Amino acid sequence: MSKVKAKAAADRGRQELLWLLKEAQQRDGCLSDELIARLAASLGLSIGEVYGVATFYSFFSTRPLGRNVIRICKSLPCFLKDCQVIVGSLKGELGIGPGETTADGRFSFELGNCIGACDRAPAMMVNHDVYGDLTSGKISQILGRYD
Ligand code: FES
Repeated sequence: MSKVKAKAAADRGRQELLWLLKEAQQRDGCLSDELIARLAASLGLSIGEVYGVATFYSFFSTRPLGRNVIRICKSLPCFLKDCQVIVGSLKGELGIGPGETTADGRFSFELGNCIGACDRAPAMMVNHDVYGDLTSGKISQILGRYD
């Protein structure tokens, strides 16, 4: 394949990559090394490039996650509204820290960037649900909504 054709193929692959990663994340729950290698080969991209995209976005994960994924915002507005206190409450409730999954697979707990609820900082998401104006007292009640 000529360099021009290879570049055109890689450009097309880059356009499809995010969609394919999103589809795989929803289907498989995470993006495995095998999947990343397979996508790279089929799209004409390097494994490093696909891995870089898969690990750049916080809504993708390269490791299996729990049934419910908590993403607490650590960006500046939430930081200034003491999101660290909420992180501490989650650690206490779940017995795990950021980047970990409970032994029963019920929750994974991630730190992330802005989720678009800055006006209600500190904020977090559980799966696709957004919770704002968090206090330590609300955490237990929120977690109780998820099996
Ligand atoms: S900074 Fe936390 S939701 Fe935007």
